[in-house]
Amino acid sequence: ASVVEHLLHVQNVIVKPLCKEQIIPSVNGSLPGPTINVREGDTLVVHVINNSTYNITIHWHGVFQLKSSWMDGANMITQCPIQPNNDFTYRFDVTGQEGTLLWHAHVVNLRATLHGALIIRPRSGRPYPFPKPYKEVPLIFEQWWDIDVGLLNLRPAPVSDAMLINGIAGDSYPCSKNRMFNLNVVQGKTYLLRIINAALNTHLFFKIANHNVTVVAVDAIYTTPYLTDVMILTPGQTVDALLTADQPIGMYYMAIIPYISAKGIPTPDVSPTRGLIIYEGATTSSSSPSEPLMPPSNDISTAHKFSSNITSLVGGPHWTPVPRHVDEKMFITMGLGLDPCPPNTKCIGPLGQRYAGSLNNHTFVMPESISLQEAYLYNITGVYANDFPDQPPLKFDYVNFQQRTKSDYKMMFPERKTSVKTIKFNSTVEIVLQNTGILTAESHPMHLHGFNFYVLAYGFGNYDPLRDARKLNLFNPQMHNTVGVPPGGWVVLRFVANNPGVWLFHCHMDAHLPYGIIMAFIVQNGPTPETSLPSPPSSLPQCTRDPTIYDS
Ligand code: C2O
Repeated sequence: ASVVEHLLHVQNVIVKPLCKEQIIPSVNGSLPGPTINVREGDTLVVHVINNSTYNITIHWHGVFQLKSSWMDGANMITQCPIQPNNDFTYRFDVTGQEGTLLWHAHVVNLRATLHGALIIRPRSGRPYPFPKPYKEVPLIFEQWWDIDVGLLNLRPAPVSDAMLINGIAGDSYPCSKNRMFNLNVVQGKTYLLRIINAALNTHLFFKIANHNVTVVAVDAIYTTPYLTDVMILTPGQTVDALLTADQPIGMYYMAIIPYISAKGIPTPDVSPTRGLIIYEGATTSSSSPSEPLMPPSNDISTAHKFSSNITSLVGGPHWTPVPRHVDEKMFITMGLGLDPCPPNTKCIGPLGQRYAGSLNNHTFVMPESISLQEAYLYNITGVYANDFPDQPPLKFDYVNFQQRTKSDYKMMFPERKTSVKTIKFNSTVEIVLQNTGILTAESHPMHLHGFNFYVLAYGFGNYDPLRDARKLNLFNPQMHNTVGVPPGGWVVLRFVANNPGVWLFHCHMDAHLPYGIIMAFIVQNGPTPETSLPSPPSSLPQCTRDPTIYDS
């Protein structure tokens, strides 16, 4: 194992994917930012220098951060932000996982342009659990707005001006007609596509004309090889897939389009964003490239089929069997209601209110003067409460949304709190996530920091403990750090809380962060110093000091 060192310089840069020049915060002047390559077992050291005009943190999305939760980069959860003209060095071991992940700013909106690939290859001498590819190709899907990132909150969630493939909008957009992401291939060779959905707010279908791919990993955990012609990725998900150039020499489009699971909201730009696969020997004069036939953007069944068919590679590298005994069972409802608009705020709810997302009727409020993990470590009172509510399974009316039930109404007016759920070290947690669809039934991609979880089952309608508990896949369930909870449906997750610290669990639609579809777990210390939260590095950024908190 070695030490891999990187410098991420956050600075403003001018880019022009469409017709307008736009100043964006960038890392090292590029969009997407640099790819970070490590091998499993390496120590990653990343110096972040912030010369932008924003407060930032960098989060290593999907990295376990075993015994290094201070390095998780969750703004106001594990650290205060790195302020303009300051720096911070992240240092952590990357162990127990292989595949494709991403790094991104963990401050609302800024993830739009501050992100890049994080690729974890096996230790030297260890093979992939599939034939060695000829080449590896990162494919980063992004969402682009022709406005200042600071103003993104004022746009309805999924509507963007373009999608980008590796920073390029492609020929479906004005002023981008002659630019397209090109992938040059050699006939007969196999390529490992390392696919990342870095979009803020849209799930994406991805397809390649005339080619199938074999999925071999999702969220940096190997899967049973799965042959498919279409893939779906929620924001924050990654897929590793093998593509063999097994078609006649020629050119073939690849394309992404948004998957819009919400009913009743206008479907935004559905023209696919395209890239081009060019076989060696193909001539531009040969017939025009084949087009992939994209699913309709509201194709729930195609999305569900792909998501629910993935299974984990039993016995593969880093695979661990599902723990049978559950210590902590949680039922969590995910809601989206409306709150009155606070004074001097611009609110974008349908009647001028603001959206209030919730988990078990709690809208999460970010701490403001100290990170949650420091408040926990130093026993500072008044920052959070250990009162995340327990709740028995509830039922919702998915057929007739107008027929409100009592629990629906409660969810329209959630409580605003910084509430956490405390978990004993090493306990097995099972969570039933019930999507509710109070305003719209849409898929929410729920992301857990610090752990992978098993997805034991997916379903539509209400989760029924008697009926559905028997359907759990305890043999080879897929593992994820981000799961799309089906619109008007549910998932059952399980994870082992083997890592002390404070860990966010939140919707990875960036627009839903200010709505508060967030909670935090505090995983308590184990019995030994080795299994306890270490003290923070002395260089950890501090919030602008508030004497009422620091002097008490
Ligand atoms: Cu990729 Cu908390 O985020």
